[in-house]
Parts: sequence; C-alpha cells; structure tokens
Amino acid sequence: MENFKILGLVGSPRKEANTYRLVKTALEEAATVPGAEVEIYEMAGKKINHCIGCHKCAKTLRCVFKDDLMEFMDKYLAADGIIWGSPVYHMGLPSLMKAAIDRLPNMMEPFYLRKGTDKPRYSKVCGVITVGAHRNGGQELTLSQMINSCLLMNNIVISGMTLAGAYIGVAGHSGQMPDFLAKDNVLQDDWAILGAKTTGKRVAEMTKIVAEGKAVLKGNGELPQEYIYREGPEKWAPE
Ligand SMILES: Cc1cc2nc3c(=O)[nH]c(=O)nc-3n(C[C@H](O)[C@H](O)[C@H](O)COP(=O)(O)O)c2cc1C
Repeated sequence: MENFKILGLVGSPRKEANTYRLVKTALEEAATVPGAEVEIYEMAGKKINHCIGCHKCAKTLRCVFKDDLMEFMDKYLAADGIIWGSPVYHMGLPSLMKAAIDRLPNMMEPFYLRKGTDKPRYSKVCGVITVGAHRNGGQELTLSQMINSCLLMNNIVISGMTLAGAYIGVAGHSGQMPDFLAKDNVLQDDWAILGAKTTGKRVAEMTKIVAEGKAVLKGNGELPQEYIYREGPEKWAPE
C-alpha cells in the first residue's frame, strides 16, 4: 500500500512548549505504524487574522487577508490523519487556532456550493490533545471545540486509551510547581503521556485502515465521488 501522512498540528503561540511535546509524543508512536509519514506543524509565529465576516471569499474564492492561512490549509488538505494539539486559553481554544478553523471551511465551501455539492467527505482521522496549566482548567471544552471542527469538516474522530483518561481526547496539565509556566512541565503528567501515545498510535492505525479501504473501493470503481478530492488550494479554487 502507499504511505499515508499524519500531521501534528500544534496550536500554541509558544514554540516547542507543552502542547508541542504531547503532539510530538503522539507522532513518535504514530510513526511506528508501517507506512506512516509524520510531520509536525507549529502555528507559533504564524500570522492568521481573525475572520471579519466580509464574505468576499464567497465571490472570489480567496480571503482578503494575505497571511499564513494558505500554508495552514495546504498542510491540512495534504494530511490523511491529523493529531490536533491546543493549549487551553480562557477555558477554550486560543485565538490563533480559532481564527484558522473559522476561516478554513468558509473559504472552501463557496467553491463546492457553486458546483451544487457539499464539501468533500475528507475522512481524515483525527485525535485531539490539549494542555492547560490547571488540572480542570477547561480541557474538556477545548477538546470539544477541536472535535466539533473535525466533525464539521467531515472527518473521523477517535479517542486515545480511555483507561488513561483519554475519553474524548488527551487533557494534559502543565501547571506544576516550582515553575508554573515551564515549557516542559507536561512531561511529568504520566496520564497525558500515555494518552498521547495511544492517541498517536490509534490515529495512525485508523488512518491506514481508511486509506486501505479507500484504495480498494477506488480500484473497484466503487468509491463515491464525495470521498475523492484533490489536494491543494489551486485544485479547489482556481485563480
Ligand atoms: C491567555 C492565556 C489564557 C490561559 N487560560 C487558561 C485556562 O483557562 N485554563 C488553564 O488551565 N490554563 C490556561 N492557561 C495556561 C496554558 O493553558 C498553559 O500554560 C499551557 O501549558 C500553554 O500551552 P503551551 O505550554 O503549549 O504554550 C492560559 C494561558 C494563557 C497565556
């Protein structure tokens, strides 16, 4: 079978911090599944404006902002599986990640609406990870926000090991003393590490199952059209 791509998406504005460490842990496990090619993408330092609701994209199929959204979109579209990682900010997603997931579908959907179809069934296999400084600082809400985005984008969400507490995703805790804000405190959270490992492995295994299934159905000519899409913005939104 062909190789498949697993993207680790790190939504922290801090480079190589706790969220990065859990996503990296997950990706290392994902990479043990034969055929998995892994890549980590940090949003730290990227410029992604919030949506201003101008709806110009509905006409032009392009956003009025020339920023890093297209790079984010390229990575997203090219992945077969995605491990999402986000810190908890004010009991939810940080604005950087929220801005990206607000704009992503709204820019793509007009292209399909014009063709009279729904957006494709992307069927990317997704696992979700979050880190908050507090033990119960809003992790479940943050996981739910990422899960909802995955569902809205016609993806497939899996959990990690539920015995490790990863019921709907991995809830890490980074606020250990003495340095409450250290960038690697989450490595002391054994349950989060186990949850990240099992999530990474399961995302890769399930991505492989979906990819193999799609390849067989495509070979038989039985894969419904809505499961087939070409990658890259130039394919869905020609200039
Ligand atoms: C603006 C802001 C808001 C935050 N809000 C919360 C919160 O509501 N709950 C929580 O547990 N931690 C909160 N934190 C702490 C971060 O979630 C925590 O430091 C986490 O480790 C950050 O991820 P990172 O280490 O990958 O950057 C907040 C941090 C910042 C900067």
